[in-house]
Amino acid sequence: MHRTAVVGLGIGLAHCAGYLESKNAQLAAVCDLDPVRLSKVGGTFSQGSMFILKQLFSEDILKKTWEELGVKTYQYIDDLLEDDTIDTISLCIPDYQHAEQALKIIKKGKNLLLEKPIAITSEDAERVLEENDKQTGRLAIGYEFRINPAIRKIKDLIDGGFTGKIHAFSLYHFRKSFKHDKWNQWIEKKEYSGGLLVEETCHWFDLARHITGKEIESLHCVTTDKIYKDFDYEDIAYINGRFANGAILQISHALTGFDFDLSITVYGEKGTIRCSLKESPANYYGIVSWGKPDGSPKKAETAAFGIEASEPYNIKEYVKYFINTLSDTAYSEVLNVNGILAGADDGFKSLKLSLLSQKSAEEEKIIKGIS
Ligand SMILES: NC(=O)c1ccc[n+]([C@@H]2O[C@H](COP(=O)([O-])OP(=O)(O)OC[C@H]3O[C@@H](n4cnc5c(N)ncnc54)[C@H](O)[C@@H]3O)[C@@H](O)[C@H]2O)c1
Repeated sequence: MHRTAVVGLGIGLAHCAGYLESKNAQLAAVCDLDPVRLSKVGGTFSQGSMFILKQLFSEDILKKTWEELGVKTYQYIDDLLEDDTIDTISLCIPDYQHAEQALKIIKKGKNLLLEKPIAITSEDAERVLEENDKQTGRLAIGYEFRINPAIRKIKDLIDGGFTGKIHAFSLYHFRKSFKHDKWNQWIEKKEYSGGLLVEETCHWFDLARHITGKEIESLHCVTTDKIYKDFDYEDIAYINGRFANGAILQISHALTGFDFDLSITVYGEKGTIRCSLKESPANYYGIVSWGKPDGSPKKAETAAFGIEASEPYNIKEYVKYFINTLSDTAYSEVLNVNGILAGADDGFKSLKLSLLSQKSAEEEKIIKGIS
């Protein structure tokens, strides 16, 4: 049984739900600078960005204080780290603090599930990687889309040979803007969040690598920051590129919409797969269709997914998967580009692609020879 703690009770509440539900974990502590978030489990669900996480908890649990659940509360990470009985930590605090706090946790030899991005600069990410190599604790990065059942379906079809050699991958993400109720409004400033490309496009670089199993070799990015003025960084980014095997890549990411809509298409020599994830006010839908490149719609097959394909559920399941595989001797097999868990190297590579996209946009040039 792993004794776990969650630091940062925003999206960290989804990590708490995962540990509370896991048979192999005991949620021993939570830590947050904000006393309101530490007061009781449902302390801050009235906030917009927290509301969708409410569905992960029973009404009974929401009314309880953490202490009533047997969970200790800490305001400061350094105090939490004094507790040697805790072996595993989820770090879910603003992006600009990831590297500094992750290093402390890794140095203590604890297992760490670090929310994405691994850091906001490549120098900091390298420091995390170096320290991780020296220590015995296990590090995974929070790329929970990998466990989304619709994404698993795509991956299973590819791994089962349905597409044959992949020639093109596209991902379009259209979403509403980030909420304004983040702690100290950290997400609104590039200095603290890394901007759209680092804060969120890193997810899509991870999925491009994970789904195709290929490294990205070159890219070109253009951005605009003319529509939504509330954040000091790009609100739309278009990226074109090539994988190391010559396949082409396209990612389109917009932060100025009114909905959550994620579409992925994989074009292979033998088959095509299309996935659409869409959030509606009442529910969340995932549809994956697959057919032959020249096939008729009647011959295409389809699989549909409900709420289990939504982000809060994916994070909860990813946390459970992380804890369940910690004691697995084959851990390294699930912790890589093809596995369900993203490892430190995956975290580093997705960040690098985000930073190179920023460079490409700033310098108006194609970046080559990446992998
Ligand atoms: N994997 C995903 O899909 C996903 C989704 C949302 C957020 N995230 C990531 O999770 C992290 C947190 O995002 P959020 O949306 O929950 O932000 P948030 O601002 O809503 O919550 C952050 C929490 O951390 C606390 N905090 C800040 N600094 C702290 C410190 N030094 N010690 C203890 N507590 C501290 C704040 O009080 C706040 O409660 C970010 O890195 C973000 O990129 C990942």
